Parts: sequence; C-alpha cells; structure tokens
Amino acid sequence: MKYPVYQPSLTGNEKKYVDECLDTGWISCKGHFVTDFEKAFTNFIGVKHGKGVCNGTVAIHLAASALGLGEGDEVICPTFTYIASANPFAQLGCKVVFCDSLPDSWQMDPSDIERKITPKTKAIMVVHLYGHPAEMDTLCALAKKYNLFLIEDCAEAIGSEYKGQKVGSFGDIACFSFFGNKTITTGEGGMVVCNNDELFERVVHLHGQGVVAWREYWHDVSAYNYRMTNIQGAIGLAQFEQIEKFIAAKRQVALWYMEELAHTPLVFHKPVGDVFHTFWMVSALAESKEDRTALRESLKSMGGGYRNPTNISMYTPNAGV
Ligand SMILES: Cc1ncc(COP(=O)(O)O)c(C=O)c1O
Repeated sequence: MKYPVYQPSLTGNEKKYVDECLDTGWISCKGHFVTDFEKAFTNFIGVKHGKGVCNGTVAIHLAASALGLGEGDEVICPTFTYIASANPFAQLGCKVVFCDSLPDSWQMDPSDIERKITPKTKAIMVVHLYGHPAEMDTLCALAKKYNLFLIEDCAEAIGSEYKGQKVGSFGDIACFSFFGNKTITTGEGGMVVCNNDELFERVVHLHGQGVVAWREYWHDVSAYNYRMTNIQGAIGLAQFEQIEKFIAAKRQVALWYMEELAHTPLVFHKPVGDVFHTFWMVSALAESKEDRTALRESLKSMGGGYRNPTNISMYTPNAGV
C-alpha cells in the first residue's frame, strides 16, 4: 500500500454540487454553497460565525486586520510552523516574535511565550501543528493575564480537540485552510471563525473590498477581495459531509505507521495529554540527520510519500530540515 503525502479524496458529492454551480451559472461568490458550507463547518467547530475565504493565508491576514493589528504591534508565533502563520503579521507591519516549541507535543512552549511578552505584545498566534492541539488551558490563561488576543491557526488541525473541545473555538478568532493537502479541501480555500458579533462584522466587511453592509458599491475602507467562490463552497460542503471518515482514516494510517515502525528508533508525534490528535501528517523524529536521510530514501524506494519531511515527516532534533 502506498501513501502519498496527500491526495484529496473527491468521491462524495463534489461533482454533483460543482455541476449545480456550472448548470446554474453561480460560479463566483454568490450562491448557496458558500453559506451552506460556512454553517455546517462552524456548527462542527462549535463557533457562532464563519466566513469562507480564498485560502488559509488570507484567512490569517483577514483575522489580524479585523483585530486591528498593525505597525508597532508584536505578535508571538512559534518558529516551528509553516511560513503563512507569520507572514501576514509582518505584511501588516507587526513585529513577529518567535518562540520555541515543546519537545513532546511539538506545540508552542507557554513558558517561552511568557518570556517574550513585552508592553508591545498584542497577540499570540497559536498553531496546532500537524493536527496536535496546543496546550490551550495555559495559553488561554496567558492571553487573559496579559490581555492579549489569541489567534488560532487551525490549518493543520481540522477536527482536533483539546479536552473534548474543537480547536478553533478557544481563541478570539481562528483560521482554517482547505488547500488540496488539508483534511478537507476546497482546492484553494480557507475560513475565519469567531464568536464575537462585532469582530465578525469587521471580518465580513474587510473580506469583500470594504463594502458597507447598508449600501452597494460604497466602500468606507480600502480592503482586499478575499471571497470564496460558490464552486469552492460546493466542494467544501461535499468534503465536509465526509469529514469524520477522513479523520478516522488519517488516525488509522498513523496507527499503522507507528505499529510497523515500532522497532525503529523513530519517535512518533503521539498525542500528549487529553487531546484528540487528527494526524494531519504522520510525523516522527529521527535520532540523527543520517537516520532521517536513510528513512527518506527507503520510503522513496517503496514509492511512499514523504515531505521534508511526511507522511512520514521526519524532523531531526539538531539538523536543519
Ligand atoms: C500551519 C499553516 N498555516 C497556514 C497555512 C496557509 O494555508 P493556505 O495554503 O491555504 O494559504 C497552512 C497551509 O498550507 C499551514 O499549514
């Protein structure tokens, strides 16, 4: 059996729903699929509001803009993440202050966050890396203590839970990605979710060129076009209908890897604490750079996928990746 790094499974209602868009001509942002997908997804995460956008990176830019972050503000972000967790803050003029991650869960180290807080700190960017939830009790308490915004980057953790609660429902605002390699996909796509009504109004306002709610073609701020298309919404809804199946399959694949490679010195990225790890990728730590290279070569020869590293994602402690 071969496991590519990720191959979307499009065997549900994707074609039927996309055909409906094509047949009716609703291919841009108007049409019912975007709102249907937003409703279903926010209900699943356990939040009040959600706005579909064209990718996960702009979801973060939009969330940060809606919170009013900008020039002179410091945002604490883990070093160990994808570049899109940090870039939007820098683009808005914020200073990104990086913090270290914990050796067991691979998530942000709360004590390092606390060390990095200054009077200019405005937000903590929590990334639930590789499907493993971050330590939310401590992070929520830190945000409260220092009066900071908590932004969640859930791009890699759709459906992951911390103490029975879905990630994306803890912070002031949260961002998801539906890129082709994510747990559910819309091709390119993302969503911003939150509970606060006023904050959500700003999200909606800024996601569509800053047009005001009360008058067409009346733009009271300069904003971008971050809208999700009805075709993306159609694929998203069809993918959402299969979400439990995808998560169960990911957890099963992770279990198989861990069982089959139990005799090796690899340290797998296993759940730490009361969490539901969705194993967006099966990741493991190799003892040395040499071990990592050998494993990569072996996976390659078997035709299995790996990333720099996964579906075995091999991060070595002291070697650059
Ligand atoms: C942690 C993380 N944040 C943000 C993103 C950005 O999402 P997108 O690729 O949809 O822009 C990704 C995905 O690629 C990601 O893995």
